[in-house]
Parts: sequence; C-alpha cells; structure tokens
Amino acid sequence: MVTFHELTEDDVEAVSIIESETFSMPWKAADFLEMINLDYAYYIVAKENGVPIGCCGVRNMCGDGEITNVVIQKNHRRKGYARQMLRYLMENARHRGVRRYTLEVRRSNEAAIALYEELGFKCEGVRPNFYEKPVEDALIYWLRD
Ligand SMILES: CC(C)(COP(=O)(O)OP(=O)(O)OC[C@H]1O[C@@H](n2cnc3c(N)ncnc32)[C@H](O)[C@@H]1OP(=O)(O)O)[C@@H](O)C(=O)NCCC(=O)NCCS
Repeated sequence: MVTFHELTEDDVEAVSIIESETFSMPWKAADFLEMINLDYAYYIVAKENGVPIGCCGVRNMCGDGEITNVVIQKNHRRKGYARQMLRYLMENARHRGVRRYTLEVRRSNEAAIALYEELGFKCEGVRPNFYEKPVEDALIYWLRD
C-alpha cells in the first residue's frame, strides 16, 4: 500500500537515491535537508510499506506554489501514484496558503506533460534552452483557481 507523508530527515538519503536514478542533475540528500528546514517549502514522500518510492515538493512564493522534484521510482510507474502524490501535495499546500501552482517540464517529457495536463495544468510559456544535460526548452505550466 502506498501512503504519503511529509518528508523528514530520515527519508532524504532514500529520496536522493531515487533522484540519482532518474535525473541527469539530481538533488543530493543535503539539498532535500535544506528544503525541509525552510518554512516556505513543503516536501512529501510516497512510501510503499514504509519504503520511499517517490517524492515531490512545493515552495510557496507569496501564494504561488513552485512544484519541483516530481518523481516516482521506475518499477512503480503507471499505477497512479504520481497523480495521487501531487493531489496530496496540492491539497496540503492549499492549507498553507498556496493558491496557484506552477512548474517547469522538459519539452520532450511526454509522461510528465500528460500527467500535469490531466491534473488541469495549462502551458503558458517557454524558457528556451532552460535545461542542461541535455540542453532543452522548459515548458512553463500553471494551475490557477
Ligand atoms: C512523470 C512521472 C512522475 C509519472 O509518474 P507515474 O506514477 O507513472 O504517473 P501516474 O501513474 O500517476 O500517471 C497519471 C497519468 O499521467 C499520464 N502518464 C503517466 N505516465 C505516462 C507515460 N509514460 N506516457 C503517457 N502518459 C503518462 C497518464 O495520463 C496517466 O494516467 P493513466 O495511467 O490513467 O493513463 C514518472 O514517469 C517519473 O518519475 N518520471 C521521471 C521523472 C520526471 O520526469 N519527473 C517530472 C519532472 S518535471
């Protein structure tokens, strides 16, 4: 069974391993540790039987929530966990004053784009060559009230 929890110090090592398996410029445990100590950031972890299988987070910028680090471990994908995890994140962030959500995604990332659009996010802009390793445009998505 998969459950969602606020990310704690105990989870940052496991979550950084999932990041390194997934992204070309992964966050380290220290990066997550820094985030969970900020009062305007809220990070969550998805766990199957107590073991981390994914994470995501949001930074509250005056009511605009910047969602980052959305990931589900490869062998757990296409089971609806990212959708559930993002809904959990947004519901809880709403209680912390987040009113709108924004995120960046690689133009070629069809899985993530399909996920965000299914959740109601709309593409409102492009940042050319925003990403490195490899260089690629970022699409800017927003979910407004
Ligand atoms: C993007 C990611 C988080 C999706 O996680 P997931 O748990 O597999 O997603 P879900 O099972 O919740 O999928 C929800 C919906 O998103 C869409 N979707 C997810 N993966 C998809 C894929 N590979 N192809 C097309 N649509 C996809 C579908 O609409 C899906 O609904 P459906 O399964 O009922 O058709 C996962 O693929 C991942 O970790 N990718 C690598 C990291 C990454 O790219 N993160 C995003 C950075 S911006």
